[in-house]
Amino acid sequence: MRISVIGCGYLGAVHAACMAKLGHDVVGIDVDEQKIAALSAAKAPFYEPGLEELLEEVQSTGRLSFTTDMASAAGSNVHFICVGTPQKKGENGADLTYVDAATVGLLPHIAPGDIVVGKSTVPVGTAARLSDLVLAQEPGAHLVWNPEFLREGHAVADTLHPDRFVYGVANGSEEHQAVSVLDDVYSVPLSSGTPRLVTDHPTAELVKTAANSFLATKISFINAMAELCEAAGADVTRLADAIGMDDRIGRKFLNAGIGFGGGCLPKDIRAFMARAGELGADQALTFLREVDSINMRRRTRVVELTRELCDGTLLGKRVTVLGAAFKPESDDVRDSPALSIAAQLQLQGAVVTVTDPKALPNAAKRFPELHYDSDTNASVEKADVLLLLTEWKEYQNLDPFEVGGRVSSLRILDGRNTLNPEKWRSAGWTYRGLGRP
Ligand code: UGA
Repeated sequence: MRISVIGCGYLGAVHAACMAKLGHDVVGIDVDEQKIAALSAAKAPFYEPGLEELLEEVQSTGRLSFTTDMASAAGSNVHFICVGTPQKKGENGADLTYVDAATVGLLPHIAPGDIVVGKSTVPVGTAARLSDLVLAQEPGAHLVWNPEFLREGHAVADTLHPDRFVYGVANGSEEHQAVSVLDDVYSVPLSSGTPRLVTDHPTAELVKTAANSFLATKISFINAMAELCEAAGADVTRLADAIGMDDRIGRKFLNAGIGFGGGCLPKDIRAFMARAGELGADQALTFLREVDSINMRRRTRVVELTRELCDGTLLGKRVTVLGAAFKPESDDVRDSPALSIAAQLQLQGAVVTVTDPKALPNAAKRFPELHYDSDTNASVEKADVLLLLTEWKEYQNLDPFEVGGRVSSLRILDGRNTLNPEKWRSAGWTYRGLGRP
């Protein structure tokens, strides 16, 4: 099939490459010339494991190209909208500028029988509005909402082997013409058993925000338990293991630590609350405000614990932060809890050095006032305290004896509860986890 993918960021670039991998002819379109130049040269404009190899592989087949010219969407019969929906400045709602611009820019190039497929995370009601625009331009075209559930760091595998497909079509019917078109697009994963659900537009939009809200709630739940464990002298990691053995609860997303960040969970729960308010259903989601504030409290707690570890004052203390990305295997620093903590420590008088295997260029753009060092050994040199804030493998594998020879005090705060406390303590370190004795 001929496919256009509009928006080539974390979502669209991966989607375009994966659609070509599935055998389709794909054109990726973005307004950012630098991004398009990089992708055209099979270079990923951000770090995502496996993406560059995939770009090289599919570009050599001639099935994937990139351009800034929206007119290149003409001739494709399926058009994926993959642009970002960031939080509005100074407000909780989602900024739909890019979704609207992409759709309006695409409209002159669609033909009868085409389907426009929204993948961006949007407030419920957006699909119905965009569907009207599509129909006004081309009564023979359709708009489908097909939310994306990929995780950064696992984006290629999640796109090629998703755990489900959701198609939101105007009448919510399996018989809708667009359903068979999307079935053709996804024929490879569907034939290997991936389930798919057909719903109406609002249900498909809500599936995505509900899923992210549930994940955020799960993380804040365990972080609230971590607060309680600290007060009671209990261990939240063992508590998570034990409740997670109940398969109605499940162990995934019960890792207590510095909380969730990134370009999705934090802004999605806020946009969801804002939209619920507009719909007169704000009471239904007031609990998400608590989810958000538990999450934010983690960051303040780490600053306080660091002060405690530094004998009551941060002034002039050398703090090394291991990890800047919002999670490992990503260079994304949008709303990164690690960086937010690093910046707060610096503002309170500490001398902060941040290291990360991939995210330092993005981190330096966001917080130019922090000091960065890409060499882990150099970054810990003479540190008064280490903070492990993003659980990259290489930090989990640090040797406490070797690191101990470089720092000036043997103190470590494990913000992701990922190290073995015994191992570090027996090497002479003062080890602090979150929600652990
Ligand atoms: C999230 C969802 O997991 C995806 O399904 C969704 O498609 C995506 O948002 C999106 O809306 O595009 P992502 O933002 O890549 O994916 O990251 P997650 O793996 O969900 O992690 C989010 C944050 O939660 C990270 O900061 C991570 O460190 C934190 N986390 C995760 C915890 O603190 N504890 C856990 O147990 C799990």
